[in-house]
Amino acid sequence: MNPDSALPRATSRQAPVSGQDSTPRAVRIFRGLLRRIATRTRVMVLWAPRNDLGPACPDGCALVRVAGAASAADQDLAKEAMRAAGEPNGLVAPRLAHGDEFFGWLLDGRVVSFGWVTRQDRAVGPILLAKASGRAFLYNFHTLNCYRGQRLYPALLLAMRHVLGLENVTEFVIEVDVRNTASARGLEKGGFVLAAQVAFLTLFTRWRCLGSRTVLERTASSLFRAV
Ligand SMILES: CC(C)(COP(=O)(O)OP(=O)(O)OC[C@H]1O[C@@H](n2cnc3c(N)ncnc32)[C@H](O)[C@@H]1OP(=O)(O)O)[C@@H](O)C(=O)NCCC(=O)NCCS
Repeated sequence: MNPDSALPRATSRQAPVSGQDSTPRAVRIFRGLLRRIATRTRVMVLWAPRNDLGPACPDGCALVRVAGAASAADQDLAKEAMRAAGEPNGLVAPRLAHGDEFFGWLLDGRVVSFGWVTRQDRAVGPILLAKASGRAFLYNFHTLNCYRGQRLYPALLLAMRHVLGLENVTEFVIEVDVRNTASARGLEKGGFVLAAQVAFLTLFTRWRCLGSRTVLERTASSLFRAV
């Protein structure tokens, strides 16, 4: 998920295979135009408590953690991982300055799976999530293509829940586009349960508005800032 958009990218499994779409061209063009005018996005908000069990490192992997005070070499690991994931340049330094932290699995000298955590300023489209003592927001996870399907993502979620849990984080919140089945499956294995759903419109690929939220668990209303 890009923190600046709060929108996870769809996985390759959901993309139609090029040349196999039987929809007439005119309909596809019309739909494409409509998408440029307005797109509806539905996002699941999930949460998990801290993980009291020690983290199990996947074979050959070491957990890497990069915070604002990290050495230049560690910051470079995060920058390189973001580059390999196709993220825009220049995100690492401002995130670290904001207090966010990078976690990843290091294998053979490079980060093969990573994610970020922040304690503040998290939004799902136009809807702001509430900062609270003991609450952390997870975002922008990625596993390199050739390492997918090896459970690195759920293992990283469990490890972050354990490590941060030792530092008094009691509640972990993450959001995912409802179409991102790969991420949803990883989240389930990482111990997350559905707490709420959010829907919103994006106009002209830029303006997010008309957000609505459905709280699926009574206590989940505390996740949202009062409007
Ligand atoms: C979502 C993502 C982080 C999962 O990482 P991962 O380390 O492969 O996680 P897992 O091994 O637990 O696999 C999760 C699911 O991905 C799917 N998957 C498995 N192998 C796959 C492959 N080679 N390619 C794509 N998806 C695959 C499966 O549905 C799997 O669930 P299953 O094992 O129950 O069948 C990764 O697919 C990714 O980086 N996607 C693009 C960015 C993204 O969507 N980030 C998350 C936003 S919340």
